[in-house]
Amino acid sequence: MAAGTGLLATSLSSCAGPPMLEASVIDHRITVPLSAFVGSDFQIIQPEGFLFDIGLVKGADGKFQAFVLECTHASTQLTPAGDGYTCPEHGSTFDIKGKVTRGPAQLPLRQLQTAVSSDSVTIYLR
Ligand code: FES
Repeated sequence: MAAGTGLLATSLSSCAGPPMLEASVIDHRITVPLSAFVGSDFQIIQPEGFLFDIGLVKGADGKFQAFVLECTHASTQLTPAGDGYTCPEHGSTFDIKGKVTRGPAQLPLRQLQTAVSSDSVTIYLR
């Protein structure tokens, strides 16, 4: 169902990065329609009023993982780069599932709980 999903807009980024979705936050949750994953298993979610973007990854098993794109070194917004994320502040890199691939960051990205229904995936911000 599209009603009440909280999705504001879909803007396909350039071919250099994953698609980005702007989404509203309702009751500390974001709901993304599964149709957003046609053609891509990786989305960047830009939650309205939330400090950091979220990387949302669909696995081969159909399960979703969501990661806050906040560098664990000094809380800088990460940007998508290749098949992961990079920090513009001091150069840390993370793979698509939040694992550190280059420091100085040492901790993985914070993972958020998700739940899948027949037509959407919900991300819980707390
Ligand atoms: S804030 Fe990201 S590497 Fe330092």
